[in-house]
Amino acid sequence: MLSSFERLLFIRRVSIFQELRDEFLVKLASAMDELSFPTDHTIFEQGEEGRSLYIVVSGRVRVHVGDRDLVRLDAGSIFGEMALFDAEPRSASVTTTETCDCLTLNQLQLIDAIEETPEIAVNITRALSRRIRELNGKINSYETELKEIKAINTSR
Ligand code: CMP
Repeated sequence: MLSSFERLLFIRRVSIFQELRDEFLVKLASAMDELSFPTDHTIFEQGEEGRSLYIVVSGRVRVHVGDRDLVRLDAGSIFGEMALFDAEPRSASVTTTETCDCLTLNQLQLIDAIEETPEIAVNITRALSRRIRELNGKINSYETELKEIKAINTSR
């Protein structure tokens, strides 16, 4: 468990909150819930309704669709923001790969934070853009691999 002061120091360093005023950060830090999960614990599953955004304080999680890993995230990373923004079910499951502490923010708290400091929405958009780029990179390398495999098979 983090003390209120440690919580404040931690969320001040989380990239999406960097522009928030200290006064608001103090309020936000004290309103967030802190959750602890054991290793191999599924925090939520793809298809579930999503009401919170999570920030990894310590430990590591994997974001996955079935058995396929999409990405691994560690301290300072956020996840679960998509369902909060589009009100659709969770797009992937998230499972801890080691013991993990997270802070959570509900939709109302997120909207309040964005109204207070609209740059937060820009920061989240930046994080989403980065994820789409990474995904496109992976799709490209899968396609290249697939072409290579096809070329090997047709040359046999
Ligand atoms: P959400 O859809 O609410 O729940 C699953 C979360 O996993 C999603 O929000 C994102 O935070 C995260 N996520 C989904 N797909 C990816 C991806 N391709 N790369 C990184 N994170 C992802």
